[in-house]
Amino acid sequence: MILQGRLLLDPHQLPQEGWLQVDNGRITRIGEGNPSTVPEAGDDQSLICPGFIDAHIHLPQIDAIGCDSLQLLDWLEQVIYPAETRWADQPFAEAMALRAHQRMIRSGTLGYAGYLTSHLHSTVAVLKAGHAIPVRAIVGQVLMDRRAPAELLGHELARLARSKRGRSALSVNPRFAVCCSDELLSRAYRRVADDAFIQTHLAESKQECEIVAELFPDDPHYTGVYDRHGLLGERTLLAHCLHLCDDEWQLIEQRKSVVVHCPTANTFLRSGLFELDAARRHGVRLALGSDVAAGPDFAMPRVARAMIETAKARATTVQSDAFVPAPAEVWHMITRGNADALGWHDAGRLEVGAAADLLVLKAPFEVDEHLIGRLIYTWCDEYITHRVLDGELLENVKIDD
Ligand code: GUN
Ligand code: ZN
Repeated sequence: MILQGRLLLDPHQLPQEGWLQVDNGRITRIGEGNPSTVPEAGDDQSLICPGFIDAHIHLPQIDAIGCDSLQLLDWLEQVIYPAETRWADQPFAEAMALRAHQRMIRSGTLGYAGYLTSHLHSTVAVLKAGHAIPVRAIVGQVLMDRRAPAELLGHELARLARSKRGRSALSVNPRFAVCCSDELLSRAYRRVADDAFIQTHLAESKQECEIVAELFPDDPHYTGVYDRHGLLGERTLLAHCLHLCDDEWQLIEQRKSVVVHCPTANTFLRSGLFELDAARRHGVRLALGSDVAAGPDFAMPRVARAMIETAKARATTVQSDAFVPAPAEVWHMITRGNADALGWHDAGRLEVGAAADLLVLKAPFEVDEHLIGRLIYTWCDEYITHRVLDGELLENVKIDD
């Protein structure tokens, strides 16, 4: 298959007119100028970029977007746990997992790291969705054993043969220390297979941090709880990290874990303003997540925009010298940066040999040095004219909702 368009090879530079060849799920050739055959998609006015990658999303929460006015712990109790309870019904869970994949590809998200519920069949549901719409995924059942409705407590993980997993890698997701006893956290550690990821939440709200300090009085800090159980490593994704002390940033850097910044969620739940400067000062690895449903947007360019706006909000309130990232930097994060954070060194980039998870865009403005800023600030899913997922052109993306 041949795709034609200006190639966004590097968001810091202007795109180049050219074409891509895709065979067997991979980019096999990249050329300049016009292709020698009629392209399957795109033309000389199109833009071609890697599909977006979302480093933090909750599939069972996609219908809970916009339930406003609560902060984290009350929101979990009143909105999210009731929503997740509905996944007890396996056909319901399967239909919703499929809708979650549909909803993601509509917004150009072709890879994600995410959470299910604690139900064993939630894993079956996401693997089925992954066979129908093979969005690349690192995804796991939620583990919790306290402070949540009894029907959502669980520490058993579905065991499914690798051959059944397709493009979905299974991770271990202890929800957060509030809902996890020491016993559950050590059990979680024992469940982590060699190359598996661990996903959890860390220091999102002040109230959560206070409860964790009471529940784990012998640990030096919240991050230390996870570290004592061996849960911090280079394949650990720590969502939020809004209320950390220097020792915690340092520990996260030492363990080479990834902090997943979720700016739209932090605004929605009024959790706080991420300290991007602290993350940069400590050299911590960083990724960007939608955190649907705390985050209202599936579209990663909107999350990227929120990252800039959060940094500007800090700069205009608490920290006048706050670092504000440029559009090209946040665009990099939602493509190659997130891919690298998820260990997908063959994704999020236009390179020969890379996975062919690609978007063809048609945006209503000129190509100049503000291209990426214009894309981010005016983003709408209608800019996407074609999606190539795992090397296949998706026709007529169907969305039920
Ligand atoms: N902390 C623990 N669980 C969750 C969740 O589902 N969403 C968010 N935003 N924070 C959490
Ligand atoms: Zn989350």
